[in-house]
Amino acid sequence: MSAQAPVQPRRVENLHTDKGKVPVYATGVVDQNWGGYTAEDHATWATLFERQRRLLVGRASEAFLTAQDAMGMTPDRIPKYDDLNAVLEPATGWRLIGVEGLLPELDFFEHLANRRFPVTWWIRRPDQIDYIEEPDLFHDLFGHVPLLMNPVFADYMAAYGRGGVKAHGIGAEALQNLTRLYWYTVEFGLIREADGLRIYGSGIVSSSGESVHALESPAPNRIGFDLERIMRTRYRIDTYQKTYFVIDSFEQLMAATGPDFTPIYARLAEQPSIPAGTVLDSDAVFQRGTGEGWSTDGDV
Ligand code: PHE
Ligand code: CO
Repeated sequence: MSAQAPVQPRRVENLHTDKGKVPVYATGVVDQNWGGYTAEDHATWATLFERQRRLLVGRASEAFLTAQDAMGMTPDRIPKYDDLNAVLEPATGWRLIGVEGLLPELDFFEHLANRRFPVTWWIRRPDQIDYIEEPDLFHDLFGHVPLLMNPVFADYMAAYGRGGVKAHGIGAEALQNLTRLYWYTVEFGLIREADGLRIYGSGIVSSSGESVHALESPAPNRIGFDLERIMRTRYRIDTYQKTYFVIDSFEQLMAATGPDFTPIYARLAEQPSIPAGTVLDSDAVFQRGTGEGWSTDGDV
């Protein structure tokens, strides 16, 4: 047997048992195995890409749209990581690596700290076009990768990775505080631009329903960025968010997250968490949500 025999990467998805969903973690770095994509896989990419680009012009942040164009992502076919890396690495030093699915937290943080962004190699099936629980190639590549071209955001992501390694050493509560920050910025963040609010969070830009909901629905709260407030706020994993947090710029995000979080974690440990839909007197409110359609339980 040749040591170079190509190994077909696995498709690691959550297990669904009679006791509910069990997340499964992958660990290894794998080849994208681009030649292994079927015509159906490329068609899924094309459908999702075209639908989202149409929705996102005028809704996504300028930085996101510009970067996506600069990277040469097109609907024609699933991009090759190597081709994207040829543009990304010289721009900000980030590089995409293939993974089989969700990584254990520490592995994920270490990749980010070293400017390696893990991208799930497989794309969702046609029956999962509108919703899939776990991150797939479309979410990771279309949603996360473009902003890695932005120098300030690129630095934020690497700093987050270093902060993650540190929080992992401090304990579970610190990690929970930091995860909320990722959720409300990297995944579900909004940014205030000259013409109004725009989306930069990957979880929003990769979802057709939430791309409209996050900006246009009267249901959710839209509140100004506040680091410690966000780190106390619970969130939703299986419905649209009840609250979105708005930054003024990526520079603001970078500056606010620059200080050492160690004393912040200690302070937050004394304070209760905030439910996902609560508005506080101290909040800078852009929009107070009507709460329409909210389910009463299930904040994590
Ligand atoms: N400053 C944070 C810390 O000391 C690290 C961090 C930077 C976290 C940027 C998130 C984003 O832990
Ligand atoms: Co994501």
